[in-house]
Amino acid sequence: MAIDYQQRIPNNVGLGDNRALQRALEHWQPHFLDWWREMGPSASQNLDVYLRTATTVDAEGWAEYGMVKMPEYRWGIFLADPMPDRRIGFGDALGDKVWHQVPGEHRSTLRRLIVTQGDTEPASVEQQRRLGLSCPSLYDLRNLFQINVEEGRHLWAMVYLLHAFFGRDGREEAEELLTRHSGDPDRPRILGTFNEPIEDWLSFFMFTYFTDRDGRYQLKSLAESGFDPLSRTCRFMLTEEAYHMFVGRTGITRVVKRTLEVMKALGSDDPGDLRRAGVIDLPTLQRYINFWFSSSLDLFGAENSSNAATYFATGIKGRPDEARFEEHVALGQHLRIGVPDRRGGVASEEVPMRNAMNEVTRGAYIKDCDIGVQRWNRLIAEAGYEFRLALPSPRFRRAVGVWAGVHTDPRGNPISEEASNARRDDWLPSEADRTFVKSLMHRVTEPGKMAAWLAPPEGGINNLPATYEYVRLN
Ligand SMILES: [Fe+2]
Ligand SMILES: [Fe+2]
Repeated sequence: MAIDYQQRIPNNVGLGDNRALQRALEHWQPHFLDWWREMGPSASQNLDVYLRTATTVDAEGWAEYGMVKMPEYRWGIFLADPMPDRRIGFGDALGDKVWHQVPGEHRSTLRRLIVTQGDTEPASVEQQRRLGLSCPSLYDLRNLFQINVEEGRHLWAMVYLLHAFFGRDGREEAEELLTRHSGDPDRPRILGTFNEPIEDWLSFFMFTYFTDRDGRYQLKSLAESGFDPLSRTCRFMLTEEAYHMFVGRTGITRVVKRTLEVMKALGSDDPGDLRRAGVIDLPTLQRYINFWFSSSLDLFGAENSSNAATYFATGIKGRPDEARFEEHVALGQHLRIGVPDRRGGVASEEVPMRNAMNEVTRGAYIKDCDIGVQRWNRLIAEAGYEFRLALPSPRFRRAVGVWAGVHTDPRGNPISEEASNARRDDWLPSEADRTFVKSLMHRVTEPGKMAAWLAPPEGGINNLPATYEYVRLN
């Protein structure tokens, strides 16, 4: 269905035919805009930004580009087209018709999942709100804002589901999505990673590489849901989400490239020399990887989870790309996972496959994360250096699951708390690292100019040159 932009709320769900729902969402809309003005990107209300806006939900040519003031962005409700005669693809309900309404027995579970997903979307906008003040270029500033408006739209996507299918409690949850705030001591966001501050652009690239990728895997799992409106919503969100990870992948690549250039020019890989030359040394990059990767791993939940088993059994949440699995019932199978043996070592345990669904998803995510790391390592090797970046062990610095609270080194070997504290600044960004990285963050706003710690992008947006004035500061 085409997107109707004549409506106050652009949509392809026939909102005009449902007056009660339309009124409820039109009531929520000004609250959203107030939130955007207060908690959205700092000092950005009057900027003209070269943004893409969805025009159809087709995979091909789904967006148009143009200069927009962000508070006037047309946030709306877009669902992927329904698949004819879609059936549940996994679990005990395998082969059953999908649900077009919420089954009573799954109501609170589905609401919780939608609220938890919805909460992450505005959270990331709040985390990133001050980054525009230290942008390394107009190209990067535009990318930040593109991601921010789309996370705002993802909030709309979840709020639509809450309003349309969950009655009064759904409307209350939608209000609360605007009253919790990232890092707020009294009313924090639901998930840990979304309360971590993002105060520099290296953290932003790490977040878009690692944490937006977690989002991708969550959306893929929810796109399998037997609750068809959720599936269609998530399928379209995945189309938008791909760009967020592009920003993370190319952002870190550009940091690596620039650092290698300066390493060559100086003939040195000494972190002190590189810092004095104004670029981010590779060991510091590794510590940021350790931090954001380990934090993002927790978002998948516990390795052995009865909730995960229930979601799978009942058809609420599948595995990412469920169709690629040979078999969709997952009974009588086990997954072997590493657990602490409580004597300072690692033992292994068999977990029934349905209970291990979080771990299955996390495993797919880790493989995906490693692709970029290997690409960066190729660049380092081609430049003639021995240093290699690596993902830390999934046991390292976990706060959720069987490894929560167990101290390990980045390779996953259990160690004492004292040993862990003693090495902390070798493994995770120290205060000094953060201070140094922040010291590089100076706002660059001349079209085509780039901060000295970052290589220019390989191309611009929508076939425009990288030097285009992507944001008019007015
Ligand atoms: Fe999102
Ligand atoms: Fe995202």
